[in-house]
Amino acid sequence: MMDIQEAIEWTDDRVFAKTGKRLDSLQRTILEGTLENQSYKQVAEDYHCTKDHTKRVAAELWKLLSDVLGEEVKKANFKSTLKRIKNSNISNFGSDYIQIMGDINFCNEHCPYPKVKKATKTRSPSANSSTNSPSKQPEQRHNLTEAPEWEHHNNRLAEITTLKKWILAEKIRLVTIFGLPGMGKTTLGRELVEQIKDNFDYILWRNCSETLTRKSFQTNLIEFFSQNQETKSSSLIDYLRLNRCLIILDDLQELFAPEKFAGTYLPEAESYGKFLKEMARSPHNSCILILSWEKPTEIATLEGENRHCRSLQMGGLGEAAAEILSNKGLKDDDKWGELIQLYSGNPSWLNIIAATIADLFNRSVDRYLSYPGLFLGDLEPILEEYYQRLSAPEKSVILWLANQKAVDISQKPGVGAIHESPLPLSEADFIKAINSLRKRGLIEKATDNESSLFDIPALVKNYVKNYS
Ligand SMILES: Nc1ncnc2c1ncn2[C@@H]1O[C@H](COP(=O)(O)OP(=O)(O)OP(=O)(O)O)[C@@H](O)[C@H]1O
Ligand SMILES: [Mg+2]
Repeated sequence: MMDIQEAIEWTDDRVFAKTGKRLDSLQRTILEGTLENQSYKQVAEDYHCTKDHTKRVAAELWKLLSDVLGEEVKKANFKSTLKRIKNSNISNFGSDYIQIMGDINFCNEHCPYPKVKKATKTRSPSANSSTNSPSKQPEQRHNLTEAPEWEHHNNRLAEITTLKKWILAEKIRLVTIFGLPGMGKTTLGRELVEQIKDNFDYILWRNCSETLTRKSFQTNLIEFFSQNQETKSSSLIDYLRLNRCLIILDDLQELFAPEKFAGTYLPEAESYGKFLKEMARSPHNSCILILSWEKPTEIATLEGENRHCRSLQMGGLGEAAAEILSNKGLKDDDKWGELIQLYSGNPSWLNIIAATIADLFNRSVDRYLSYPGLFLGDLEPILEEYYQRLSAPEKSVILWLANQKAVDISQKPGVGAIHESPLPLSEADFIKAINSLRKRGLIEKATDNESSLFDIPALVKNYVKNYS
């Protein structure tokens, strides 16, 4: 089977070797669409332009490719032409590719595009400026004005190691950190930026809001990149290909609809989904880092099909959360483990409840834990708001899970343990709800010997039983 991205790269390199110009993002989208047997109408929709414009660009593109490949190429035969070239010499794609890459290096001097700077961790301050705009200072290229202040914690080493491996070693293009509010996603993202910033030519941190339309976001990115570039382009993907950029999109959940399954875009934000797909599928040298309560719907599909997309579920701090309790001057450290477990090691939740324990329980964790019922203090409205965002089927499943021990959800309702319970959901809605709760990081997985057991965080269980 032909790898579509490999085929596009190969074609792009052929075009570059012959003309010194790269394919632009619409041309790439046309090739991708053609290889996926899409009509021009579908390609135009994917690219948010008119069908006529797509057809005009495609006609020029087929002329160009006919010239480059030395035979007539059109939409109807592009796929078979590539297959034939590939089959005519099994190593053609490989060895030819290397040959072409050699050509590119050779003709780099005459290349009309700025060279992609090889960013290294050990760059000297003077090397920090770009090869194509030496007068620009790195601060202009690293825009963190929307990012929170950097607070250094040394307790997320496993997460940092994984993220560095994906972003730096494997050059993953789309990375998502998702999980419950207050777990420390933003703090982790900020720490990561601090540790890897020297590897990027450009860094931009943006916080999502309902009012940040996809168009204005894209224009904003293009403006940011173009201010430092001599070669201007109207296409974002061109900048992302020519430079190594890191774009952090925090609070992506702001673009998702409440009371719907996780990761469902608000109608006005739907084009973000297409944007993320393009970021994962089109070849480029950059990384988009998403921080969100909910994993966007298209990420699961992309992860299945595409090695350029990864996601990390943000878990609690575990024992390391003891630092938070000790900073608040809490007593009874033999009970801290229990408190941390009850609050899933969520640093924000623990900070809030620790303040309440200090104020109302004279800093005694023991007295707080032995207080009858569950007292949540200032955390109650926060959990309430979060719970209200869930869809109706998810609320049913949460209520049902709250009243049992960890369950094996591979058993459909109507079989075994689930059969006994009065869950008012069809099989289809049940599994959709479970899937959605996984995308929120709201179901914890504990693997038994043979089956996967699922449970919800202890605090959510208690909250649902006592308050909802
Ligand atoms: N690794 C950590 N060690 C100690 N405290 C932490 C850590 N990470 C985050 N915190 C604290 O927890 C709180 C929440 O962190 P943060 O804002 O990063 O969470 P978040 O997952 O981005 O939340 P939200 O989803 O609401 O945006 C902050 O007060 C932060 O100082
Ligand atoms: Mg955050």
